[in-house]
Amino acid sequence: MQLLETVNTLREQLALARRAGKSIGLVPTMGALHEGHASLIRAAAAENDVVVVSIFVNPTQFGPNEDLAAYPRTLEKDMAVAKEAGAAIIFHPPVKEVYPDGNATWVDVEGPLTAGLCGRSRPGHFRGVTTVVSRLFNIVRPERAYFGQKDAQQVQVLKRMAADLFFDIDLRIQPIVREADGLAMSSRNTYLSPVERQAALILSRSLAEAKRLVAAGERNTAAIEKAVAAFIQTEPLATIDYIELVHPSDLARRETLTDTSLLALAVRIGKTRLIDNTFLEVS
Ligand code: PAJ
Repeated sequence: MQLLETVNTLREQLALARRAGKSIGLVPTMGALHEGHASLIRAAAAENDVVVVSIFVNPTQFGPNEDLAAYPRTLEKDMAVAKEAGAAIIFHPPVKEVYPDGNATWVDVEGPLTAGLCGRSRPGHFRGVTTVVSRLFNIVRPERAYFGQKDAQQVQVLKRMAADLFFDIDLRIQPIVREADGLAMSSRNTYLSPVERQAALILSRSLAEAKRLVAAGERNTAAIEKAVAAFIQTEPLATIDYIELVHPSDLARRETLTDTSLLALAVRIGKTRLIDNTFLEVS
């Protein structure tokens, strides 16, 4: 496995691979790799000859009061995880490689896809994500790129960006990987104290509670959101950012459940903001 830090060296290696007829898969990450990231790398290794894992804590997707400085940086361990999962190249550029001369060009998906959910509480976040991912797509020019359903809104925003900009890249979406007790894996879980780690189970448990309500016949969006909110409020360390039940592709609210709906939530446990989601199916 190679560790490359510049766009030029990466492009040289990828040109060689392409000349040899090899397909390229890209797994964009911000590092602090865990089993969720590893599942994307494994999926990429199964479908491509060369897997590039980018590790880049992208400054443009963090708000001024967010955790850019505190975000975990664990390159040595990340390299071991990525190698074991089948990565051929780690692309770990400094900020100036991705944003030379500062930044004048933004890629921004406007409208309902970015207005609600995390877009409401993190203004500018998705603009940073689409800006960096479009740069990574142009730097790497992969056949396929791998993203996790853990970030359900990010998936829909990136699909729209790829379609609107005619990126000839297949976006491959992988299911959420969870800890044994249900907590969705996240690089930010490392911020949690042992007591908070236990309290964080309220997120996945509230999703299970919503599934139970739907199985019992509940179809009203507001009623399900209200019940999930009440459930989460039983945990004293939890503060709700949002709970929204939306259509899985346009992310717009419907009054009653459609065939498949997306229940997405963001909850603060102490100071740590966590997200989780699940599909609710009406049979
Ligand atoms: P990061 O949070 O590091 O996540 C990288 C990828 O791993 C994303 O596609 C995310 O959805 C996926 N992932 C994280 N936790 C997961 C889990 N528990 N199960 C399955 N997949 C999981 O998302 C980002 O970085 C950034 O926004 C990025 C796309 C790299 C742009 O900077």
